[in-house]
Amino acid sequence: MTEIISLISRKGGASKSTTAQAMAAGFTAKGYRVLSVDLDGQASLTHITAADYSGRTIFDVMRGACSISEAVQHTGAGDIISANSSLDDVEINGD
Ligand SMILES: Nc1ncnc2c1ncn2[C@@H]1O[C@H](COP(=O)(O)OP(=O)(O)O)[C@@H](O)[C@H]1O
Ligand SMILES: [Mg+2]
Repeated sequence: MTEIISLISRKGGASKSTTAQAMAAGFTAKGYRVLSVDLDGQASLTHITAADYSGRTIFDVMRGACSISEAVQHTGAGDIISANSSLDDVEINGD
């Protein structure tokens, strides 16, 4: 069974990224398969997990440049699809 947990708030500094990383590490340590998806152009979760934000990111998935599986990176605290500042353009254009 797959569970999706979203940590969302417009307020910065509310501990979204920190909590996401802690939950991913905790669930991975318990033996669950975890995929974190960084959906913030600030890319804190990508940074915290030492993932690569210069390669394929969630923005590339959104614009159809690659598949989800092609964007997945493997870390010691589970898998992650990274983000970078290119996501900021999506937010501006999406208003
Ligand atoms: N429980 C906590 N105790 C102390 N500092 C925390 C805690 N959770 C987060 N922080 C710190 O607060 C700052 C903002 O956290 P962050 O997870 O980046 O917030 P957000 O993703 O909501 O913008 C970071 O410097 C982080 O290290
Ligand atoms: Mg954050």
